[in-house]
Amino acid sequence: MPPIRKCLFPAAGYGTRFLPATKAMPKEMLPVVNKPLIQYGVEEAARAGITDMAFVTGRGKRALEDHFDTSHELERQIAGSERESLLEDIRRLVRECRFSWTRQREARGLGHAVLTGETLIGNEPFAVLLADDFCVTGDAGVLGQLTAVFAEQQCSIVAVEEVPASETASYGMIAGEEISPGLFRVSRMVEKPAPEEAPGNLAIIGRYILTPDIFAILRATEPGRNNELQLTDALQSQARQGKVLALRFRGRRFDCGSVAGYMAANEYVWKRP
Ligand code: UTP
Repeated sequence: MPPIRKCLFPAAGYGTRFLPATKAMPKEMLPVVNKPLIQYGVEEAARAGITDMAFVTGRGKRALEDHFDTSHELERQIAGSERESLLEDIRRLVRECRFSWTRQREARGLGHAVLTGETLIGNEPFAVLLADDFCVTGDAGVLGQLTAVFAEQQCSIVAVEEVPASETASYGMIAGEEISPGLFRVSRMVEKPAPEEAPGNLAIIGRYILTPDIFAILRATEPGRNNELQLTDALQSQARQGKVLALRFRGRRFDCGSVAGYMAANEYVWKRP
């Protein structure tokens, strides 16, 4: 299979845990200190060698498109001033990456959002990044860790981390055999199980590499928990054939979809040397 060139950013959720901030603004535009979550996500993808950034958005998400466009008025306004340096990173991304957009007309689940992105991805393996899972690593980033495994293993890969039993109902949970340190061949996945139904303590976080057969599987998958099309249910079909790995990523994650996680991320980045 070709190397990973494209990353899909599902960003069509309603962000109800963050109301009222997300009433008219996408949660992906919330800043950690002074940079929006989505920009951290695109930077992580770019560091993993990905050039094509594909977004699945919804109503009220236009700010996302504007963020990855050039604002000529603003450029003129700050030209030559010391504030120009604040735009350096975003300018580089806009220059070096390709951006494409599609809309999910109704938030019918992460699986449905990924299927909506098929038109932007086509028939090749791709990454998925949920920008509200904010990750800090000492290396090229979680997607970089996943693409390195993909280069060797050529199958779908999910990033996982250990969570306490009290939190299993917030995640897709996996079970599997550890085939090398931190790398598991997934045998079972369950979306948001109660602690007693969880197959283990490893939770899927918002970083994936998916092989393109996932689209056909998603099309054949019935809506699951909450009557939403669940990506975990489709991945479970691949896992049954031994075609899903889980990598316990090296680094730290903040759930910026929750107010507490978001506050912790801001404090962490603000105080970082
Ligand atoms: P969440 O479960 O965090 O849902 O989605 P949400 O709607 O964004 O937030 P809350 O729970 O109401 O506060 C996980 C990711 O999947 C995307 C979201 O944008 C988020 O990045 N998603 C979810 C979609 O793009 N479409 C959907 O139909 C559902």
